[in-house]
Amino acid sequence: MTTRHFLSLMDLKPDEIRSIISRAIEMKKELADGVTMDLLRHRTAAMVFEKSSTRTRVSFETGVTHLGGNAIFLAPSDSHIGRGEPIEDTARVLSRMASLIIMRTGSHDRVEKMAKSASIPVINGLSDFNHPCQQLADLQTWFEHRGEIKGIRVAWVGDGNNVCHSWMNAARLLEFQLVVATPPGYEPDQGLTRACQEFVLLTNNPAEAASGADLVVTDTWASMGQEQEKSQREANFAGFRVDEKLMSQASNKALFMHCLPAYRGVEVTTEIIDGPQSVVWDEAENRLHAQKALMEFLLTS
Ligand code: CP
Ligand code: NVA
Repeated sequence: MTTRHFLSLMDLKPDEIRSIISRAIEMKKELADGVTMDLLRHRTAAMVFEKSSTRTRVSFETGVTHLGGNAIFLAPSDSHIGRGEPIEDTARVLSRMASLIIMRTGSHDRVEKMAKSASIPVINGLSDFNHPCQQLADLQTWFEHRGEIKGIRVAWVGDGNNVCHSWMNAARLLEFQLVVATPPGYEPDQGLTRACQEFVLLTNNPAEAASGADLVVTDTWASMGQEQEKSQREANFAGFRVDEKLMSQASNKALFMHCLPAYRGVEVTTEIIDGPQSVVWDEAENRLHAQKALMEFLLTS
């Protein structure tokens, strides 16, 4: 049996994404009904996190507990990763003991190296290039609120960053239109843009992206590792804040998503993030359900 990893949404076929999301919705209901699971009974998930996290860490640790297993959190400061033990060696050692590796890292090639040397599934819990677990939860959230996603129009307003890249992959896999509005110089990766061109349009005009959108999505203007650019970015992203005026360009049934954490009053106003169109808390909760379904898929397929 070949080991399946989840480093990018592109590691799944469209029908696999759809079945993981259906299963996530089912598991959410089963949890509410008190159903317990033992897929990971007496087994361990190793969580190698080289960047901070609230949602990803808590959702994976909780998810592993719900599946009957135990998660071990490994920060660079209290493992040998911090003193430079090669990622390939870490992968081999963890594969001899654990059943699953979840990794968050600043450099996408590190999670690729981990997967290459691991004989157990490796899940990307965010890299500088993408955030596929967030994408599964966001897709689940759309399906729960609105149903089918094929053919809808999604506006990404803000930085052409890791989360944006995962939305681009979702657009080409599930066949919806994504319009990405960024300030000049903050466009998404060019190679990915070329690969997604049938479903992804770029603009520097946020109102053009939001116009008629069924869903408006944004994220922080300064991702982890870019903190020193924060004030420069705030100046360069002027006009890209998601506020009532921008949301009024979208369909009147449009939803608002943000992966969180948000800088309220910067990339999104408090009125919008706390308003009736916002589904950000469902996105956060669905990290738990979508990742449980993902872990089940990777461990049983
Ligand atoms: N959205 C998300 O991944 O949040 P954390 O950084 O808190 O894990
Ligand atoms: N783009 C953000 C997402 C955080 C979940 C970052 O990489 O910091």
